Amino acid sequence: MGWRKFPICIQLFVLLHLGTCSIDSCPTPCSCSQLQTRGLIVNCSSKHLKDVPDLPVITVRLYLQNNLITSVSPGTLDHLVSLQEVDMSGNPWNCNCQILYLKSWLDSIPVQRNPSNLRCATPSTVSMKPFQNLTGNDMTPCRRTWPIKCKQFFVRDLYMIGLAVLTLILMSYVVRMARKLACRIAVTTSSCQTKPSNESYKSK
Ligand SMILES: *[C@@H]1O[C@H](CO)[C@@H](O)[C@H](O)[C@H]1NC(C)=O
Ligand SMILES: *[C@@H]1O[C@H](CO)[C@@H](O)[C@H](O)[C@H]1NC(C)=O
Repeated sequence: MGWRKFPICIQLFVLLHLGTCSIDSCPTPCSCSQLQTRGLIVNCSSKHLKDVPDLPVITVRLYLQNNLITSVSPGTLDHLVSLQEVDMSGNPWNCNCQILYLKSWLDSIPVQRNPSNLRCATPSTVSMKPFQNLTGNDMTPCRRTWPIKCKQFFVRDLYMIGLAVLTLILMSYVVRMARKLACRIAVTTSSCQTKPSNESYKSK
């Protein structure tokens, strides 16, 4: 499967950066215990957390149940490449567009989990609905958040277009300068050509 190659890339990336970042430490309100093999059990259950804390890369088991977490920012869990078990139940998940990240992350990881334990709390239209029952229709507000990403692309495109225009202007300037120079050279060479003929005329 494709995902098996992907985490190796991330693992390499993470290994390269382990020296510079101390992301192996236990997040503050949680309790951690080291496994005999390299890995941490991170227990953040029932800590009144409103957000997912900065989790160590070597997290193998993650307990986040019974907190006040409503959403997970896209990308927050991508580095957890060693994860074998996760529990995020008992949180008041806000099933707006942003929940798509968590839902797809849970679908993509090959770990022990019980997605039926994950239920939406808000908005009221999907209250108590399990994650796996969420459909595209429940996600109608999603479309409104698309322009945020589009805007990033738009800004990048503008930047690229600006660069292209600048390059064109510079190039046309260079071409004009080259043409002027070529004209000058042509003028000097033509004068050079006429000079000897003049001299030869004088010598006659
Ligand atoms: C996690 O910590 C709580 C106390 O905060 C404890 O009751 C629970 O048993 C722990 N869970 C695990 C799996 O260690
Ligand atoms: C979720 O979907 C399953 C079928 O896939 C259904 O049996 C269950 O009743 C649904 N639950 C809710 C709360 O809609």
